[in-house]
Amino acid sequence: MKPAHISYHPGTLRLLDQTQLPAATIFLDLQTLFEVAAAIKELRVRGAPAIGITAAYAMAIEAHELARQSLDAATFLQRVQRAGTALIAVRPTAVNLAWAVRRQEKTAQEMLAAGSTPAEVATALDEVAQVIHREDIESCRRIGDHGASFLKNLRGGQPQRVLTHCNTGDLATGGYGTALGVIRSLWASGHLQQVFVGETRPVLQGARLTAWELVQDDIPHTLITDSMAAHFMQRGEIDAVIVGADRIARNGDVANKIGTYALAVAAGAHGIPFLVAAPLSTFDPDLARGDEIVIEQRGPDEVTSFAGARSSPPETQAANPSFDVTPAQRIRAIVTERGAIEAPFGPAIERLLTSAPAAAKART
Ligand code: MRU
Repeated sequence: MKPAHISYHPGTLRLLDQTQLPAATIFLDLQTLFEVAAAIKELRVRGAPAIGITAAYAMAIEAHELARQSLDAATFLQRVQRAGTALIAVRPTAVNLAWAVRRQEKTAQEMLAAGSTPAEVATALDEVAQVIHREDIESCRRIGDHGASFLKNLRGGQPQRVLTHCNTGDLATGGYGTALGVIRSLWASGHLQQVFVGETRPVLQGARLTAWELVQDDIPHTLITDSMAAHFMQRGEIDAVIVGADRIARNGDVANKIGTYALAVAAGAHGIPFLVAAPLSTFDPDLARGDEIVIEQRGPDEVTSFAGARSSPPETQAANPSFDVTPAQRIRAIVTERGAIEAPFGPAIERLLTSAPAAAKART
């Protein structure tokens, strides 16, 4: 059995360093909030649900550290909240990170108000982080099955050629994956012919990580550069596009890895269904529309270099928005652990969020 890419023993978080894949399988043992925040910033762990899980463990690690400092309850809570604010700022677009941090802060606040000690709170945060981790794996399994049934019905049971973007698999989640979970479930049920994997410049999550996962599962796939997608759609070689999400607004607008919007436009031009797969922790009940989503801007080096070597003149400036927003009108369905929703997304999302105890409870 392959080792888990995220695992925790109170005080130590073990992460598979995704920046080293596919060349090397290296695990990092992290013991401080600072180390975990740096690992998130440097994309050693990435993918919206995975950074939410990681942040939940970071909050537990910090709570243990603070509990050793004999702080009074108010100061302890303030310092826990300060840690949460620092973590959220590390990667601002993926809402799962903020969602997991708020869930931990709320647990701390409620327990302290009820008279628990900081040490008891720290132990509870270990448990909540483990629950968040387990829940995410279960959600992914359900998303996989719902998405596969939806696609099977769309195509009358024919095997499909599916295009995906970025990495939404084991590595991006607690395990199994969202969009890649749907692809895994399609494959398991004999309804997948082929996966087209967009390489996902500038950091190559598709080429390095999705291809690596598909090789391990022996799922037939073809790697393409991002600019080849419309060509294969025009030739009739792609039946559906499925991607993950970093934040979904209440109207169904979706922020996801840069390049997603271009795929949605191209899919629409060719009459190809464009699907999004995400757990409820990716929906942001505080945002009415996608244009309110903060887009993380990463350093220009990721664009001006390739494989560690400068690939453009030293004088050249580069832009590097890490995500873009796909308007809800371009999306055929959003697949969650509760099933697939279709337009009009607003009322469907409102029903999902008001009946979702975990998502609703985590927000104050
Ligand atoms: O910058 P990354 O690699 O963290 O971006 C990841 C994505 O955009 C994924 O598509 C998204 O987080 C969904 S992961 C299930």
